[in-house]
Amino acid sequence: MSEGEFPSARILGIETSCDETGAAVVEDGCRMLSNVVASQAELHAKYGGVFPEVASRQHIRVIHTVVEEALAAAHLELNDVDAIAVTRGPGLPGSLVVGLNMAKGLALGSGKPLIGVNHLEGHLYSAWVDTEGGEGPPGEPDFPLLALIVSGGHTELALMRDHLQYERLGGTLDDAAGEAFDKIARLLELGYPGGPAIQDAAQGGDPEAFKFPRAWLEGSWDFSFSGLKTAVLHVVRDLRAERGEDAELPLADLAASFQEAVVDVLVTKLRYAAQQHEVSEVLIAGGVSANRALRERVESEIHAHLHIPPIELCTDNAAMIAAAGYYRYSLGHRDDLAIDALPTWPLGEG
Ligand code: KG4
Ligand code: ZN
Repeated sequence: MSEGEFPSARILGIETSCDETGAAVVEDGCRMLSNVVASQAELHAKYGGVFPEVASRQHIRVIHTVVEEALAAAHLELNDVDAIAVTRGPGLPGSLVVGLNMAKGLALGSGKPLIGVNHLEGHLYSAWVDTEGGEGPPGEPDFPLLALIVSGGHTELALMRDHLQYERLGGTLDDAAGEAFDKIARLLELGYPGGPAIQDAAQGGDPEAFKFPRAWLEGSWDFSFSGLKTAVLHVVRDLRAERGEDAELPLADLAASFQEAVVDVLVTKLRYAAQQHEVSEVLIAGGVSANRALRERVESEIHAHLHIPPIELCTDNAAMIAAAGYYRYSLGHRDDLAIDALPTWPLGEG
């Protein structure tokens, strides 16, 4: 792409697809001027997962303040931004409509264009955002680029041939990687969200202590984590039967061995896909990309130019929506105020 196709623009991003209410301002797809995230994790912790009805009500309560704070932190008024980008899907319908309605109201009131963004696309573009408000990671990515999105709702492997151009290679057949972390954390009574809880519990544990299965699904780029989940469940059940219901479980070893099994499959398949598709650019993103073990193995085993978001942008946020929105804006995408939420929206469609 030539320079001329990418005008300078400030985008206000809004994200409410799941249980984080987010608003942010990002300039030129890379300079983060503000990023406000109101997490609902505490509200959902007692349910061990996101309770959709509770999530949408909480978004309604805080969305105005979050948007105001994002503009104030960027020292801007709504009039100073060029467009309003909002997550249109995939996500929880009742949560998506809160952000979407807020964005529509702002667009209508200000006359600024409205841009619906795919949440997964947002995760991809988080890798180019500089949280310090600097120039962002140097240079544009060289395409094709191989991207692995690992979040609570998705595990997707895709080739990006250009900005906003995706070819899906595979995805999970059952649980998403983050979902597997959340379910095993619940089983081990480690709390919610499960990813960080498992990562902490795994500290000092032996990743080889339990030989949990890996679903390689050879010949496809798909993933499956349900067999692994069942295997952990059986081991825990057997340990309890042996040692008594109230006996302490070897939590560090269980968490480390489970984490190792997930990371092993993700990194090995990513490495093979990078080789087979002869890409020199590889990206990981999504909540699970915050995982230390995953980041370390990707850095040591994938010999390509790596794009990994800063930790604070791995989990849901609006800076990534503003960044992806910038590319949509630059390439001429504009949405009508009548657009609806798309709770299931495959990457690359529309
Ligand atoms: O991207 P995200 O915030 O939301 C979705 O789009 O789904 O991802 C949330 C997921 C949760 O399943 C959470 O347990 C997981 O990301 N996660 C992690 C870590 N931090 C968050 N998984 C493993 N290790 C982490 N450090
Ligand atoms: Zn997400």
